[in-house]
Amino acid sequence: MIDYQHIINTIHSELKGVEDKGNVASYIPELAKIDPNKLGIHLTDSIGNHYSAGNADELFSIQSISKVLSLSQCFAMLGNSIWERVDVEPSGDPFNHLSLLEFENGIPRNPLINAGALVVADMLVSHLENPKEDFLDFIRRLTDDDTIGFNEKVANSEKETGYTNIAAANLLKSYGNLKNDVDEVLDFYFHQCSIEMNCRQLANAFYMFMNNGKCQKGKKYLDITQVKRINALMLTCGFYDEAGEFAFEVGLPGKSGVGGGIAAVLPNNFSVVTWSPGLNKKGNSKLGMQALEKLTTKTTQSIF
Ligand code: DON
Repeated sequence: MIDYQHIINTIHSELKGVEDKGNVASYIPELAKIDPNKLGIHLTDSIGNHYSAGNADELFSIQSISKVLSLSQCFAMLGNSIWERVDVEPSGDPFNHLSLLEFENGIPRNPLINAGALVVADMLVSHLENPKEDFLDFIRRLTDDDTIGFNEKVANSEKETGYTNIAAANLLKSYGNLKNDVDEVLDFYFHQCSIEMNCRQLANAFYMFMNNGKCQKGKKYLDITQVKRINALMLTCGFYDEAGEFAFEVGLPGKSGVGGGIAAVLPNNFSVVTWSPGLNKKGNSKLGMQALEKLTTKTTQSIF
């Protein structure tokens, strides 16, 4: 039996004092206020045991990690038709780059870059009765936790400075790959990114990617093929132009957010979330990546 609690405690104490923690995202002004010294880790194993260290119970902005959850709700609802509007190839570009979008006629490279997530948001806006509420409700059901919510301040902060996303949405619209009103889709997207969770809640939300599509309570949200596809996308696209590095160092499907969170899974074994707000140059949590590298090295567990 692997002693996850001991390993997580060790990782936390090895990283807590590291001086270079990276830089907190500042392009969303509300995120610039977060204390860079926070460090939380939570691991939920396949039989539902929970292991925590550090600030694992503090809420943070999940940001791009929400893209995996919006994709899941969309994929469960619409099936393989979604791949007509968004591709499944790694971009090798930063999360907010637009160049490939123009080059490839408005079909985003994958659903985990911003342009792809905007297309997914558009599909949800088309098919959900009350899009923002219904998406939040999906996450609350996955986690069995009604306390999870949007942070309106963060959503508004991003709306006020979200020029690149506004440009991306307009570009998608010009190619006919956004069916709804640009502002409505952006409003949905900024809200999905503003959702706050702690490491434990997010590890619960990602439990289904480790557990063949079933959440902790046993309800099935995705079939096995859909889980395979989403995990493949996380592995190849979850860290943008650092996806190779994450696979190389950590060896797990995962997804980062500029709030400093990383969620990752080892299918049939565990779901794990780290939170450290300082980011590296590619916009991924600096200590979070190091913590997960240590986890897969110390446990000798990874998908490889
Ligand atoms: O669209 C944005 O720029 C943010 N709401 C989310 C970006 C993000 O989290 C990228 N991930 N590492």
